[in-house]
Amino acid sequence: MEARYFGPLNTVSGVPIKEGLQPVPEPSAEEIARLAASEIPSGADPFTLFEAWFGEAKDAELNDPNAMALATAATDGAPSVRMVLLKGHGPEGFTFYTNAQSRKGKEIRANMQASLLFHWKSLRRQIRIEGALKEVSAEMADAYFHSRAFVSQVGSAASDQSRPLDDRQTYLNRIEQLEEACKEAGEVPRPPHWTGFTLTPVRMEFWLDRANRLHDRREFTRGFAGDAWQDTLLYP
Ligand SMILES: Cc1cc2nc3c(=O)[nH]c(=O)nc-3n(C[C@H](O)[C@H](O)[C@H](O)COP(=O)(O)O)c2cc1C
Repeated sequence: MEARYFGPLNTVSGVPIKEGLQPVPEPSAEEIARLAASEIPSGADPFTLFEAWFGEAKDAELNDPNAMALATAATDGAPSVRMVLLKGHGPEGFTFYTNAQSRKGKEIRANMQASLLFHWKSLRRQIRIEGALKEVSAEMADAYFHSRAFVSQVGSAASDQSRPLDDRQTYLNRIEQLEEACKEAGEVPRPPHWTGFTLTPVRMEFWLDRANRLHDRREFTRGFAGDAWQDTLLYP
């Protein structure tokens, strides 16, 4: 591969594009060899790779390294996206919790597929994950719901997530009533529509920022959960 592919972006054939811009020195042979190689290993287990990147994100991100965009689609194909928190992950998949009567909940119930996206800005990395969803067991949903602080249990149980709210005071009144009713027990019964979903991936793509926007992408795919993963590089 010729050096010019990695050459300075502020010059055309060595001539500065703008007056006053100094050409950047051509990269060394070692640098070119490094740029030509992918940093995302072929044949890797994508769950192990996820674990490694997520571990680094926990150290690097200011807050919520487990925040991910969740994209769903309505039955007419119209997509919608919002952030949720990853609350469990492993070879079985990636789990988040929400209100199943919300917009996302209705879309999920009608179409049990979704796409997740992690973007760790400080690491300049993203991971895209796609696959089918499965609702968690009632025991799992109960355990997670009751692991949350009392105020969080109250706040989510009192919320008709995604439905119109006439006035914030209406919500505060519901919170107050629920708090009063549950304070002695010290916990709120989990509303049956408050649940979790696990996405079992059939596609995981790792994206890494590289110099001069020659980014590094590797896609791992499999037909079904349990099949062996295949991987390929993708043009950035
Ligand atoms: C960082 C972050 C994390 C969030 N985590 C969750 C979550 O785990 N579960 C959830 O239901 N909503 C979460 N939300 C709120 C959602 O983004 C969204 O506003 C809400 O779930 C309603 O979405 P919907 O109308 O598409 O159903 C989070 C928002 C942010 C910004």
